[in-house]
Amino acid sequence: MEVVETIEAMRQARRAFGRVGLVPTMGFLHTGHLALIRRAHAECEQVVVSVFVNPTQFAPHEDFESYPRNMDRDLALLASEGVDLVFAPASSTMYPAGYNTFVDVYGVTDTLEGAARPGFFRGVATVVCKLFTIVQPDRAYFGQKDAQQTVVIRKMVRDLNLPLEVVVCPTVREADGLAMSSRNAYLNATERQAAPVLYRALTAAQQQYLAGERDAGTLRDTMQQVLAHEPLAQPEYVSVADLHTLQELAWVGDSGALLSMAVRVGPTRLIDNIMLDASRAGAGSRASPR
Ligand code: PAF
Repeated sequence: MEVVETIEAMRQARRAFGRVGLVPTMGFLHTGHLALIRRAHAECEQVVVSVFVNPTQFAPHEDFESYPRNMDRDLALLASEGVDLVFAPASSTMYPAGYNTFVDVYGVTDTLEGAARPGFFRGVATVVCKLFTIVQPDRAYFGQKDAQQTVVIRKMVRDLNLPLEVVVCPTVREADGLAMSSRNAYLNATERQAAPVLYRALTAAQQQYLAGERDAGTLRDTMQQVLAHEPLAQPEYVSVADLHTLQELAWVGDSGALLSMAVRVGPTRLIDNIMLDASRAGAGSRASPR
């Protein structure tokens, strides 16, 4: 496995490759990342993984400095997965002195994570756009856990005519339902026990939907009620939104919806989501209000 740190070395290696799958990461890899890598292996000739904790997607008060990092462990894992190349640039390589160009995706970034973390998607879109132009992948792989991020990246790729396909892979969960995330490493033992409440809240609303409930306010209340039973959980937002516009819904129509939430468990901010698939919810659906 080759490990390169410069843009020139990355470009040179790319020239010898065929159909490339890129898995962009911020390192501290977990099983969710490995699922993306395995999917990329199944669909592409070479797999490139980028490891870069992107400073522009962290606000000054956020956890950029303390974000978990372990490059040696990451490289061992990536080698054991048969990854062809790791692109691990320094911050000064991606953002040299005088850097002043950013990608703003409008329309899908002012709700949910975008509202809670102003500037976050500007940083994500900028770094992902740069990674796409540097690595020039045929396909890029992202997890459904960061649902809004996948909508933003898909829109950026469409709007800027970037020549690649975005592949979104299912969320990988621990046995108790907690979505895998590098930030789970922040949880102490008590918080870790409390953290699956996000998934329990999402699945409670999903069950209600599958049983026929279509009122988005009722689904939100159900999620809030489940969260309220866990004293360590402080919800930041609980949402039932349109899958494409990410605007809050009053009623879940035929096209389904995205159930999502951000919740602090102790000091750690966790996010999770489930897509409501209208095609799975047949019998018992209530008629929409007039
Ligand atoms: O999802 C992440 O880990 C990051 O937002 C990404 C896509 C690697 C960009 O820094």
